[in-house]
Formats: sequence, C-alpha cells, structure tokens
Amino acid sequence: MSDNDKRTAIRLASHLMASRQTVLPKRLVAPGPDAAELAQLFQAAAAAPDHDLINPWRFLIIPEHKRADLGDLFAAALLERDPSASTEQLEQARDKALRAPLLMLLIVDGVKGSIEIDLNERVLSAGCAVQNLMLLANAMGYGSALTSGKALKATCFRAGLGLGASEHVICCLSVGSVSLRKPFKPRPEVKQFTRIWGDSA
Ligand SMILES: Cc1cc2nc3c(=O)[nH]c(=O)nc-3n(C[C@H](O)[C@H](O)[C@H](O)COP(=O)(O)O)c2cc1C
Repeated sequence: MSDNDKRTAIRLASHLMASRQTVLPKRLVAPGPDAAELAQLFQAAAAAPDHDLINPWRFLIIPEHKRADLGDLFAAALLERDPSASTEQLEQARDKALRAPLLMLLIVDGVKGSIEIDLNERVLSAGCAVQNLMLLANAMGYGSALTSGKALKATCFRAGLGLGASEHVICCLSVGSVSLRKPFKPRPEVKQFTRIWGDSA
C-alpha cells in the first residue's frame, strides 16, 4: 500500500469509527441488511479477538415470524418483575420486539470451551464482535443500537429462549435504515480515560 493509500485508509477508518452513533430501534426502518450484507456483518464480528479461540458469544437472530413470541417474553418478564403492570406497560414491553428490520440478541456463554477464560474476557470479546459488526453496518449506511434492560435477566425470558444456565443475554442489537438521526452524544476527552502510570495529575 502506498503512503497516500495508507493515509486515505486511516482517514476512512477514523471517520467510520467517529461517525458511529446509536440510532434507537424506533428510528430504524426497512430496508435492513440483505443476506449478502448480513454475511459480511457476521464476518466482521468473527474478526473479534477471542482468547484461546473459544468463540464464547453468539448472535440469536429474531426473524419476523418470531417477533411476537419475543414480545410475549418481554411482557412476561415485566409481569415477573411487576405483577401489577398495566395493559399499556405490557404493550410497550411487547413493542420492543417489533422495531428495526434486523433484531438480534447477543448471548455470551460463561463456560464454553475453557474454564480458564473468565466472564470478563468473554464479554469483552463479544463487545469487540458487536462493535466490528456495528462499524461495518455504519459503513454500509445503516444505523444500529444496543439496548439492554432487566427483562434480559428474567427467569421466564431466559427459559423462553431455552438458554442454558451458563448463558447470559448481554443486550439486543438492532440494525436498519435510519429514519431520523439525532445529534451525536458527547465523547469523552482522551485525558478522561488515559493516565501515565507514575504521573501525579
Ligand atoms: C451493552 C450496552 C447496552 C446498552 N443499552 C442501552 C439501552 O438499553 N438504551 C439506550 O438508550 N442505550 C443503550 N446503550 C447505548 C448507549 O446509551 C450509547 O452507546 C451511549 O449513549 C453513547 O451514545 P452513542 O452510541 O451514540 O455514541 C447501550 C450500550 C451498551 C454498550
């Protein structure tokens, strides 16, 4: 690669990373990624670092015909936590499963492969995978969002998905075309998250 090409690649990569932002699922509309794009997105995820190559994470895709079932699980999780939840609150819970053309759950297994690799490392690998995926989605022109919440830990939610005891739902990942983009959130300054060991300030 020539020096000029390198500079262009660095500029592009920096722009790509800086321009990723959360676009909430309610603002993600059709079309979502097609099959070929989806394959590329997963290839990007597969490039994540993975200590001992144990592949501790997976993406559970929620297809159109399973969205209502997932919505029922969100509603059941709310009822598990708050048996007096109103009909409106239950509808809002169900609605979480109906947004965005592409919806997935990011699941991490705490024991798969090797007990030497602790949960922190596994979740970090999953974070790298999902960031790779979101950056490539951003390059393709799509918006994306990670969303979490108490429902993901609810016993009935986990049972409904058929999760094993060692599996954790880390978050939902939504991808789609952007109907409305909001201003960028402020990013931390480098000095906020870096220190040189030994320096007093
Ligand atoms: C694991 C994880 C879970 C998240 N869950 C939510 C969520 O439930 N709701 C939400 O609005 N944002 C959620 N976010 C997104 C953050 O709010 C967002 O990244 C942050 O505000 C910075 O904005 P940006 O992504 O546009 O830079 C989550 C982020 C991560 C990493």
